[in-house]
Amino acid sequence: FEEGQNKNKLYSYHDTYQNQLTLPLMLAVGTAVIGSLQFGYNTGVINAPQKIIEAFYNETWNDRYKDNIQKTTMTTLWSLSVAIFSVGGIIGSFSVGLFVNRFGRRNSMLMANVLAFIAAALMGFSKMGASWEMLITGRFVVGLYSGLSTGFVPMYVGEVAPTALRGALGTLHQLGIVIGILMAQVHMYSGCFCSFMLFTALLPREPSISPHHPRQMMREKKVTIPELFRSPLYRQPIAIAIMLQLSQQLSGINAVFYYSTKIFEKAGVQQPVYATIGAGVVNTAFTVVSLFVVERVGRRSLHLLGLLGMAGSAVLMTIALALLEKYDWMSYMSIVAIFAFVAFFEIGPGPIPWFIVAELFSQGPRPSAFAVAGFSNWTANFIVGMCFQYVEELCGPYVFIIFTIFLLCFFVFTYFKVPETKGRTFDEISAGFRQAASGAEKHSPEELNSLGADSQL
Ligand code: GLC
Repeated sequence: FEEGQNKNKLYSYHDTYQNQLTLPLMLAVGTAVIGSLQFGYNTGVINAPQKIIEAFYNETWNDRYKDNIQKTTMTTLWSLSVAIFSVGGIIGSFSVGLFVNRFGRRNSMLMANVLAFIAAALMGFSKMGASWEMLITGRFVVGLYSGLSTGFVPMYVGEVAPTALRGALGTLHQLGIVIGILMAQVHMYSGCFCSFMLFTALLPREPSISPHHPRQMMREKKVTIPELFRSPLYRQPIAIAIMLQLSQQLSGINAVFYYSTKIFEKAGVQQPVYATIGAGVVNTAFTVVSLFVVERVGRRSLHLLGLLGMAGSAVLMTIALALLEKYDWMSYMSIVAIFAFVAFFEIGPGPIPWFIVAELFSQGPRPSAFAVAGFSNWTANFIVGMCFQYVEELCGPYVFIIFTIFLLCFFVFTYFKVPETKGRTFDEISAGFRQAASGAEKHSPEELNSLGADSQL
């Protein structure tokens, strides 16, 4: 009887702390997302100073070759400066599994900081060295760092978070990113991030600080990337993870965050840089909105709403650009359209794909799943960053229609394939996929319920 009482005590202890935001938890999450801040900063930093950097390229070219740089060479150099960041991201994110399986979550985050320092030095001294090569290499190295962060951070946060706060805390990764973008837009210097990152050293060793991870999960066998695709157990969740990442990037969001100043300029906006900052503010505000509603409304509904809203905004943007010559006030409409586009993005497609990967997989396959998801995300990011300028030259005002089509396809996919993960433990979620893989009819409804299988699977 006594033993039973003790057990009860233990359970009530867990109940009390289960869904609470304790100080160690806040510190751990707060420190981890500094990596997200750095990623966001380097996403946003390239947008506003396009003209200044192009002038620097031209000057350097002139000094070296005694000739002005050709327009096409400039477009290539500039697109490369923007997009090489995502090449680094592709390689970095794909290496996430290698790192965490070998060194653990915390130590991997700590080690990655070295890259941030190298990148800062390369970019910081590029002007002094009269070298665009240094700047472009710096962008590549900070891309490596960012690619690693987009795996480490949401994985770590997802694992230390209690079930009922997983979405809200997971959204903090995105909040870090958007604040980073905003800081870049208002020219806040990034050097201070580097020193902050040393705080990573203070993080708890491994995400065992959460009492909600049964020991058995920590011991689960590691799953390799090829196994993820071969095993029927993982095929569905990995397909969902990949599609959600693609929906985030092929929505066209980074056409805005890399090129909005130019987009606004073409749309006849008088103060394009201010409009860009406005987009950053809206971006941050709506991430906060998502943070507060994601545990109530759920991932699936918010993602659907976001995609649909973005599709509508993209149509609005197309109308604004197409009618610009006829009506001057269309330039205001383009601002409204871009702000709405960004707001809907942050409601769902921004934060959710990042943290849902941790939810869709249990401990064993999680690192490989993050590598695959990150790789998909960054590859799509690269394609948009590299091609947008060229496609825009080809399609003119109709460039956003391409994104509309993508958005609608992803809406349909999400509607039919993505299950709700809100409030379900990792165990319940993977059990749901297991059921789906083995054919639900073999199990009685009671069994399904106890495993937490979702009817949508
Ligand atoms: C997401 C995307 C990133 C984008 C950002 C905009 O984090 O992954 O590429 O720039 O949102 O807020």
